[in-house]
Amino acid sequence: MGGKKLHNHNNNNNGAVDTNSNNSNRNGTTTTTTTVKPPPVTLQQSPIINLDRGDPSVFEPYWRKNGGKCTITISGHDSLSYFSDPNSVCWYMEPELQEAIRRVHRVVGNAETEGCHVVAGTGSTVLFQAALYALSTSSSSVAAEPMKVVCAAPYYSQYKEQVELLQSRLYEWGGDAETFDGSAAPFIEVVTSPNNPDGSLREAAVANKTGNGKLIHDLAYYWPNYTPITRPADYDIMLFTLTKCTGHAGSRIGWALVKDVEVAKKMTTFMQITTIGVSKDSQLRAAKILDVVAEDFGYAGNDADKTFFGESRKLMAERWEKLREAVKDKKDVFTLPKYPKRYCNFSGRYFQPAPGKKNISSNVMYCVVRT
Ligand SMILES: Cc1ncc(COP(=O)(O)O)c(C=O)c1O
Repeated sequence: MGGKKLHNHNNNNNGAVDTNSNNSNRNGTTTTTTTVKPPPVTLQQSPIINLDRGDPSVFEPYWRKNGGKCTITISGHDSLSYFSDPNSVCWYMEPELQEAIRRVHRVVGNAETEGCHVVAGTGSTVLFQAALYALSTSSSSVAAEPMKVVCAAPYYSQYKEQVELLQSRLYEWGGDAETFDGSAAPFIEVVTSPNNPDGSLREAAVANKTGNGKLIHDLAYYWPNYTPITRPADYDIMLFTLTKCTGHAGSRIGWALVKDVEVAKKMTTFMQITTIGVSKDSQLRAAKILDVVAEDFGYAGNDADKTFFGESRKLMAERWEKLREAVKDKKDVFTLPKYPKRYCNFSGRYFQPAPGKKNISSNVMYCVVRT
């Protein structure tokens, strides 16, 4: 991962000085030693916010209280085969996971799954690469030059890193979609909505204008814990991940909803060649977790506030409130984005998006915020 690694340097002059005399050494003589104790870490001295990486452990308290419902047992004779459903496009995908994914989208109303193929991935990260492979090798787009991959700035920094990692001859990074001239050759535009890092709701910046672009929609944050669900998303390739949906990043489960069967098959081929599928143990666990959050709605008497999404929305809103409070008198130093309230079809209320990643513009080298 790129970006600065930020460390807490406490060996400064603020440290308390302890002078201990009468220490005996091996020769029996007395010496005086001076120890500089690091000062306690305070808000002002603790490390900078690490904007380089986010770990969704924010939902851990919720799962500590409610995690028992997600327990599954996997016995020694389970999950031996590479295959799950040889008749399905995504043959390594457990039918339970596919069903749970369709169900949670139906309950939440954030994506149209009807007519889509579901492709599972080890997180959505690998599915992004699978989609690049599929789109850049379709017969209509194999070109002499690598296809440009663009995304409107500011964008999730991993896209560029992933596109450039293998220096593929199929595709290459094309930069900011807003300044990209898409009129000449086919290209791929990544649309992240809500966007990481600024939480904005986005549509394609260039692809829809020129007709030459193929779209990948990364909808990792399009869940009612982060943003109002205004309509079911309905795009050619939509990427989702358990990491942001329920906070289970460690299970490494993501999925793509794909309209074109040929694209879905190519994405599956990519997964077959790179990893021969996705851990069945993780898939079964993810299926159970998704079932639990979907069933929550019924158990809560259809009161969305009492569901996992409702509780985590409150938590995210509180954290944003604290952050706004912390920087409110420092407008010359920090800028936080403002989001308009929108009506959420899932929760039946108006609220402001509270994105998972907190985008702070700052003109100082480092800042400290506990949220
Ligand atoms: C917009 C976006 N897409 C994808 C991912 C990666 O998700 P996964 O853990 O499923 O690979 C992240 C992680 O931060 C993200 O912010």
